[in-house]
Amino acid sequence: MSDPSAVLRRLRRTDASAVLAAFASNPDMARQGDVSNVPEAERYVDRLIAADSPHEAWAVAEGDMLVGLVCVTVDEANRNGWFWYWMSDAARGRGWMSRAAATVAEWALTVRGLQRLELGHRVNNPASGAIAMHAGFVKEGTEREKFLVGGQRIDVDTYGRLRSDPPPPFDAVPMIG
Ligand SMILES: CC(C)(COP(=O)(O)OP(=O)(O)OC[C@H]1O[C@@H](n2cnc3c(N)ncnc32)[C@H](O)[C@@H]1OP(=O)(O)O)[C@@H](O)C(=O)NCCC(=O)NCCS
Repeated sequence: MSDPSAVLRRLRRTDASAVLAAFASNPDMARQGDVSNVPEAERYVDRLIAADSPHEAWAVAEGDMLVGLVCVTVDEANRNGWFWYWMSDAARGRGWMSRAAATVAEWALTVRGLQRLELGHRVNNPASGAIAMHAGFVKEGTEREKFLVGGQRIDVDTYGRLRSDPPPPFDAVPMIG
């Protein structure tokens, strides 16, 4: 069910403390980057919002508070974007990320003018695969034994969405700037 309090807005420097809280909220955030204190959180945000950054970073916000992130890392030469996302533990399971990812993917392929979006997820992270499908991505393959995690080799499923692919039905999250 849609929730009117979820919005998408640009990531800001002042989101650093919420980013730190999100990284502390679940051990599975460790694979999203090195953020375990305020200076690391500020560096993480600064890297994503720098004027010359290839990243299009959108905060998923509850009211004004960041609870998640959807980002497109742009390869301008090929008009491609690497698509990635995370949600703080307390805000998971509400369907917000599925809606936010679908909204940002549509924006990236229309307003932002990209031709192709790509993503990958470990096969033992099925929630991420569900997000990809909800956002209109098509599974393109499997990178076998790509990562070594806890002594085990883990396959990664890869997905793509082209501008010409049919958009999925979705309940858009308002993009407020
Ligand atoms: C992946 C992640 C963003 C999902 O966030 P979320 O708030 O749970 O997402 P939503 O509520 O919008 O949707 C979750 C979907 O995954 C499904 N799901 C959740 N756990 C699942 C599981 N164990 N097996 C299969 N599907 C699962 C849900 O049923 C739902 O799909 P549905 O709407 O079709 O029922 C969140 O778990 C996260 O941030 N994980 C850590 C970072 C990460 O892995 N990012 C992706 C890197 S590739």
